[in-house]
Amino acid sequence: MSRRPKIWSLVALLVANWGALGAARAFAAPTALGFADGRAGQNLDGAWHVIVDPYDNGLLDYRNQPRPNGYFQDAPPRDRSDLVEYDFDRSPTLNVPGDWNTQRPELLYYEGTVWYERKFDAHAPAAGNDRQFVQFGAAAQRAIVWLNGRRLGEHEGGFTPFAFEVTGQLRARGNSLVVVVNNTRKPGAIPAMNTDWWNYGGLTRGVRLIETPAVFIRAARVQSAKSDPRRVAGFVALDGARGPTPVTIEIPGANARTTVTTDAVGRAAFDFAAAPALWSPESPKLYDVTISAARDRVQDRIGFRTIEAAGTEIRLNGRSIFLRGIALHEEALGRGGRATSRADAEALLGLAKELGCNFVRLAHYPHNEEMTRAADRLGLLVWSEIPVYWTIAWEDTGTLANARGQLGEEIARDGNRASVILWSVGNETPVTEARTRFLRTLVADARAADPTRLLTAALEHHPVGPHAERIDDPLGADLDVLGLNEYVGWYDGLPKKCDTLGWSAAYAKPIVVSEFGADAKAGMHGDPLTRFSEEYQADLYRRQLAMLRRVPAIRGISPWILVDFRSPRRPLPGVQDGWNRKGLVANDGTKKQAFGVLRDAYRALTAPAPP
Ligand code: GCU
Repeated sequence: MSRRPKIWSLVALLVANWGALGAARAFAAPTALGFADGRAGQNLDGAWHVIVDPYDNGLLDYRNQPRPNGYFQDAPPRDRSDLVEYDFDRSPTLNVPGDWNTQRPELLYYEGTVWYERKFDAHAPAAGNDRQFVQFGAAAQRAIVWLNGRRLGEHEGGFTPFAFEVTGQLRARGNSLVVVVNNTRKPGAIPAMNTDWWNYGGLTRGVRLIETPAVFIRAARVQSAKSDPRRVAGFVALDGARGPTPVTIEIPGANARTTVTTDAVGRAAFDFAAAPALWSPESPKLYDVTISAARDRVQDRIGFRTIEAAGTEIRLNGRSIFLRGIALHEEALGRGGRATSRADAEALLGLAKELGCNFVRLAHYPHNEEMTRAADRLGLLVWSEIPVYWTIAWEDTGTLANARGQLGEEIARDGNRASVILWSVGNETPVTEARTRFLRTLVADARAADPTRLLTAALEHHPVGPHAERIDDPLGADLDVLGLNEYVGWYDGLPKKCDTLGWSAAYAKPIVVSEFGADAKAGMHGDPLTRFSEEYQADLYRRQLAMLRRVPAIRGISPWILVDFRSPRRPLPGVQDGWNRKGLVANDGTKKQAFGVLRDAYRALTAPAPP
């Protein structure tokens, strides 16, 4: 298949150099601001005007050359003779946040470009707030942003936040914010061409104006020290500081505080004695943490705990733990489409709690921040991952930069979430030297960005004889926890194969079975050998659980998956109809028999030992 011209990198390159867009200047990386929720600003969610633009007509002319007066100018005709062939004010709207696929039937399968436009009056910033930023929770999969016809920058990666400084560019009235979003799958993207989930596109998470003092706290990590729950360690990074600046970190509820002084580039590390009550699934204690520097002061709700791998154990707060998990996509219960709200998050994670989980695998990309904050509140440990999924352009330097960027943004956003204990760098990626080199780069990045959490990936495995499977993926040497996706009884034999199968690993490390499962259409019944029946799925769960209990190094499971989810790979009429049916729950909330099988198994794990 001919490679589609790298229109977006071409356009971005060209657009960045267009004189017409004002003096092009080196754009800082669009790094999101930490602690954004609590900052003063303006919410820009709601109805945005949109233009669906499958030919990128708003960017390129018929010669495939950039238009100096593209849709991003958002300009009306100069007079009655002026030829302008777009008008956002008279264009339809879509809700932000939200994917476009489930907002209009004709966009369900749409892959391409959509222009978003929002006009707004800018509130005067609060006294002392000298700087303004526009921040996006996510744009799937890539975006270019203009304010009042001037290009702010671009972002690649559909599941992490980004921001642009707009200080001095806002008008009191009639600002135009234009965002062109493209979700076309590309061989060199992350994820690439082939996934088993819906390619939702759009401004799928919220948009806000944020205001800060001239010197502000751009990022900070405040967590328990790696192996000492009686110490709190981390770092703070200021933006705008003009020399060493004192920064105070306070945890009033734990009667703890410290003050450090930043270095010449506005950073400081800290490590101080503090004995907060430890966060756990049984007791998800969160503390108000305040960080202040110069005239800035930010707050967050943070839990304190330690997480370690020791031999084949996973230890939370020094005690060995078994992860009673379930995997889930970021898809709203009931309506489908991207989950966006606190209510969406609590509906999904509430089901996981009902199942008896203490753990969730948020697959296959960083979920929205409501999910990890809800996990903090509800007491659910989290496996978080970037969409380095299946076949990736392992030798492409741009692809690696994209993956590194998404990993860094994921860790920067959720580094203070006690619930997050695992960063995963890949899912079912066929083993080659280039692939392992690529993933080892991500492992090194994650260790540098966050030495406190455990690293994992869903690794490859292979049979060693008819009754044994083995994990000896070379990447296992670099990880703390071995992730294992296995479909014995669904893609690999029938459920009874579980009864005689053994598992081994080349590494004495904890194993988390990050996927197993079977499709079942809710309400479809038959005997346990009838594919897609609830009975088949329930029987497979029983046999899988019995098989996994025989492997001591397995210290957690997250069966695939909590809720049925949309996938273009699942066409079977009357059964799948564009949905992957491996959910324990149908998208309308109907529970299947296997839900009860897993819930009973988790209850048995937590039942008090007999006297
Ligand atoms: C794979 C993959 C999932 C997919 C699942 C399935 O393991 O990781 O994303 O949905 O199998 O086939 O249902």
